[in-house]
Amino acid sequence: MSRETLSLALLFAVAVLFVFSGTPVLAADAVKADVIVLPTPQTTGGKPLMEALFARRSDRVFSDADVSLQETSNLLWATWGINRKDGQRTAPTAKNTQAVEVYVVLENGVWRYDAVKNILGRVLDQNVTTKVGDAPMTLLYAAPEKDPFAGMHVGSLYQNAGLYCASAGLSNVVKNTGARALDGILTLPDGYKIFILQSVGWPKNDKPEDSQ
Ligand SMILES: Cc1cc2nc3c(=O)[nH]c(=O)nc-3n(C[C@H](O)[C@H](O)[C@H](O)COP(=O)(O)O)c2cc1C
Repeated sequence: MSRETLSLALLFAVAVLFVFSGTPVLAADAVKADVIVLPTPQTTGGKPLMEALFARRSDRVFSDADVSLQETSNLLWATWGINRKDGQRTAPTAKNTQAVEVYVVLENGVWRYDAVKNILGRVLDQNVTTKVGDAPMTLLYAAPEKDPFAGMHVGSLYQNAGLYCASAGLSNVVKNTGARALDGILTLPDGYKIFILQSVGWPKNDKPEDSQ
């Protein structure tokens, strides 16, 4: 139910966008709801860093509770958002190449995070959740296969995500298992591969009262 609810919420957001934008955002031939406008990320609050570090851990069991659009936006911003006017990010990259792509796997497909526009753009219209571990939400981290710093870059991102999860009370686990599962299914930028993935959801039987 929860993943369906998130899917519906995402589709609703697109429908609202479509109705109120006079259609310029979605081209006439792309009325497949392929763009989700994320809410503005909440970039204040949360647990103090030391408390988030204390809470950081891997959890592999998730409840069916929703990960809201707001939580999704916050999580993605913490992971790989833009935190300065010059376009630099919440995670460092060697020579500021920013050569990492983050994808979000939901029941209604796979979505690419566009931090500049704060949107998700659908890149696969297919339910592949079971291939990547069946969590309510799975983040995929892709980087150039031959980039010697790629592993370090994606590691910075998944640690950002893990700390956000710890701060927000979300469960997560970084997983190598499943990283190859979408080979030949998901089209990535030339030379990119999925290095690692990260399952995210609310802890079983422990959804915070104030979560959305
Ligand atoms: C690069 C990397 C790959 C991992 N792959 C998996 C995995 O495939 N399956 C899994 O259940 N956990 C995986 N983990 C999670 C580790 O098992 C976990 O981080 C470790 O046991 C320490 O536990 P902690 O994160 O709670 O401190 C991975 C962690 C990292 C950093």
